[in-house]
Amino acid sequence: MARILITSAIPYINGIKHLGNLVGSQLPADLYARYARARGHEVMFVCATDEHGTPAELAAAKAGKPVAEYCAEMHEVQKDLSDGFRLSFDKFGRSSSPQNHALTQYFAGRLADNGYIEEVSERQVYSKADGRFLPDRYIEGTCPNCGYDKARGDQCENCTKQLDPTDLIDPRSAISGSTDLEVRETKHLYLRQSLLKDELDAWISSKTDWPVLTTSIAKKWLHDEGGLRDRGITRDLDWGVPVKRGDADWPGMEGKVFYVWFDAPIEYIAATQEWADENGLGDAAWQRWWRTDKGADDVRYVQFMGKDNVPFHALSFPATILGSGDPWKLVDYIKSFNYLNYDGGQFSTSQGRGVFMDQALDILPADYWRWWLLSHAPETSDAEFTWENFQASVNKDLADVLGNFVSRVTKFCRSKFGEVVPAGGAYGPAEQAVTQQIAARLSSYERHMEAIEIRKAAAELRAIWAAGNEYLQEAAPWAAFKDDPDRAAAIIRFSLNLARLYGILSAPFIPDASAALLKALDAEDADWPQDVEAALQALPAGHGFTVPDNLFRKIADEEREDWQTRFAGQRG
Ligand code: 2FM
Ligand code: ZN
Repeated sequence: MARILITSAIPYINGIKHLGNLVGSQLPADLYARYARARGHEVMFVCATDEHGTPAELAAAKAGKPVAEYCAEMHEVQKDLSDGFRLSFDKFGRSSSPQNHALTQYFAGRLADNGYIEEVSERQVYSKADGRFLPDRYIEGTCPNCGYDKARGDQCENCTKQLDPTDLIDPRSAISGSTDLEVRETKHLYLRQSLLKDELDAWISSKTDWPVLTTSIAKKWLHDEGGLRDRGITRDLDWGVPVKRGDADWPGMEGKVFYVWFDAPIEYIAATQEWADENGLGDAAWQRWWRTDKGADDVRYVQFMGKDNVPFHALSFPATILGSGDPWKLVDYIKSFNYLNYDGGQFSTSQGRGVFMDQALDILPADYWRWWLLSHAPETSDAEFTWENFQASVNKDLADVLGNFVSRVTKFCRSKFGEVVPAGGAYGPAEQAVTQQIAARLSSYERHMEAIEIRKAAAELRAIWAAGNEYLQEAAPWAAFKDDPDRAAAIIRFSLNLARLYGILSAPFIPDASAALLKALDAEDADWPQDVEAALQALPAGHGFTVPDNLFRKIADEEREDWQTRFAGQRG
């Protein structure tokens, strides 16, 4: 038994996430966590909402709410949706927690003590009417490139050109609209990650088993355009973690907060502390996951994220940890994902394009989405969601292969032998052949799951289901029953055991259907099989069961067309 720490990139608080976000971090992380638990490992699986920064402030302003209230509400919304998708976090925390405030300030203090923080004077736009410095996104004006009159200080939404606030024509404050702006000197803190470049480079180079997607992005940031740059880690905002040096004030930094990307990954640690505090467990309980001097030296730490998050996790967060000089746990494996596209375009939160988590659950149960998303995870390249493909996968894999197998076996048994596992004769060559085939496939399923090769694991699981279906088709108990009811009974006994095995093996992908199946088979306490032959004898003759409700329903063409139209435009 091992100890595995799993974190999923923490979703921004500003709004409900779409399926592309979900499959890029939280869902695969959940798959892996469920699998690891099923294999008997001790797992700590945390996520949280990412609540600081301009996006949170702006979204709150748009919703007409104080930002703290907005974040508290949206956290609950996101939490309910993650429960709806059966994401099995040990803790779904909040980056605005007191624990994260204290830890973030602590890290900053350690980095400063060790010479990794530089105070830099900068010239920044100040709004007299608002009485504050304006971050790039808070300045609007006319784009010098295309003439769009609502371009932001960091980028023009219309022509996508990256901008500097000083490029804007007729700049104004996005808060008050005031044009009474001036450039003033202000001080900011920079994390001197360039000092750690060689150490980070050697560390990344040692990760030969990491996905190429992860290491290639990390290497690019280490070496392109003059190499790893120091990074500003403070901002002029009201909402965020106030800049402090540990517990002490930081002269000259009054009224500033840490940059959201500085405190967000620290929340992984803080969320574990939130979990411990909430359960009255004390510091040792969370530190044994995070401090190598407190027991975390045997922990395997795996992170999940979309490719845009890689630089922060492969370089900046490790720089924070290394620079602290403390024995914090560094990540052991970074699983990163490409993008999922939506029906010929991109999923987009700002444009409300695609299917969002709440909408998905309104139309179908979580397992349908989990199966499609995971079996099409954008691992080696971008992937695309289309309604046709979704319909085909659900109807074929879930309804025709798995659902139909379970339904045929249980219903046939009920009609001929009643709702108990029938006795019948011993298993014969046909059963032995399937057993061997499944044992081989199971080993490869386990290998793929351990390597977090999600599509390959899904394909193997599908093949394991298909093997049962083909077996049943050929063994044809309905035909055997007429001349040789004993043989038919043995086939059914074997098939019911296969159904139980499917319930166990499928649980990481489709937890609800698996639980329903195992409950119907009165086998809820079933453990991961050590030996397939033994597992296929687990339900003995005489064991009672009930016929489960249809595990999966098919998606009709009209329904699919209806959804296609409904989700073609912009979210209302
Ligand atoms: O891209 C995002 O959704 C970010 N909120 C992820 C942050 S992950 C972390 F904790 F650093
Ligand atoms: Zn423009």
